[in-house]
Amino acid sequence: MVIKGDISLPGDKSISHRSLMISALSQGVSRISNLSKGKDLISTYNCLESCGIDLKRHDEDVVINGGKFTNPDFPLDCGNSGTTVRLLLGLLAGQGISATFIGDQSLSKRPMSRIIKPLELMGAKIEHNDGRLPIKITSKKLKGIEYSSTIASAQIKSSILLAGLGSVGSTFYTEPSKSRNHTEKMVKNLGGDISTQGLRTTLKPLTNPLKNLQIKIPGDPSSAAFFAGAAALIPGSKITIKNVLINPTRNAFFLVLKEMGVGVNYLNKDINNGEYVADLEIYFRKLNSVQIKKQNIPNIIDEIPMLAVLATQADGRTVIQDAEELRYKECDRIHAICSNLKKMNANILELDDGFIIKGPTKLRGARVNTFGDHRIAMAFSIAELISKESVSLDNQNCVAISFPNFFQKLKKVTR
Ligand code: S3P
Repeated sequence: MVIKGDISLPGDKSISHRSLMISALSQGVSRISNLSKGKDLISTYNCLESCGIDLKRHDEDVVINGGKFTNPDFPLDCGNSGTTVRLLLGLLAGQGISATFIGDQSLSKRPMSRIIKPLELMGAKIEHNDGRLPIKITSKKLKGIEYSSTIASAQIKSSILLAGLGSVGSTFYTEPSKSRNHTEKMVKNLGGDISTQGLRTTLKPLTNPLKNLQIKIPGDPSSAAFFAGAAALIPGSKITIKNVLINPTRNAFFLVLKEMGVGVNYLNKDINNGEYVADLEIYFRKLNSVQIKKQNIPNIIDEIPMLAVLATQADGRTVIQDAEELRYKECDRIHAICSNLKKMNANILELDDGFIIKGPTKLRGARVNTFGDHRIAMAFSIAELISKESVSLDNQNCVAISFPNFFQKLKKVTR
């Protein structure tokens, strides 16, 4: 069996969330195509609709008539989506909206103090369940702040910047290392007064509405990682993934693949709405182990489950450290990776903030506990392709959080 052919992927999830939210804030009609098909986007869409925004969706095309938020009549259900709750909380707090946020079991366990604290410093009135959902915000005018986060998180940064757009006075946000910067790029592209020097971003509140957005969202590199990973694992494979986002804050996985020895070529490079895109050609070559620098962890954070599977087939020790944030994702991903790979016979040692894998080892079949986490489910579906026996997932449906037709697409390129 080999992985072969050309594929196109649904739009990037992070840019999809921001496209919906920022279009809701801008005035007039925005048009978005190739929106992510993930359930997380349905959460954002429904929450915005509950706040009075006029949206119309036809498959992956959305038309939004934004500009005027109203208080929702019911709690905003953010489902499984951390990006929905964290970014919307900031955006709506800045617009003086009163709302209650709820989510599913996984989201209700995830830490929210990281955004509650800075938003309170901006003057927001927030009630919460000991730093977790449900969270209630009550309408108040916010003021800009100077804030230094100790966590490199685009969700925290974006929450504060989106709040800052509706505040009085400028907002200054410093992060400990560079996280994805789609919010900054999109706000700037639509006429916002925002600039970044190194790790510090300065934002002035809007004096005029943002321009409306016209975008075809580029393919999601975090989804592409599973296909690239499959091609990197199976001798004789070669795949071209069309029109993938290659923003440097999202591209670390493909650089790491190259460092591990995999064939990686960038073809047809282009710019779309300020974001870099390319066709990625990935082909099999023998894998070597790799070390990831601390400052690169935020740029590969969602791809670490796939990277762990690759590391089991790489020659030598792969060390992932400084990745404690993985414990606060849709599940505790360090535990999920280590417990499942152990069951499959990998040589893996769990650390507080990561793991060490010594490869190569032959993987055997197992019953995988996905913990309901889409990226764990997809990473272990790829692991099955190289395991001697079959791998069964306790929950296949969770892939729909980011990639509902993952299994069909994988079948299409498996020969
Ligand atoms: C996201 C940021 C990341 C990432 C998540 C999406 C975003 O989270 O893990 O899947 O769209 O801003 P953190 O910024 O909290 O690390």
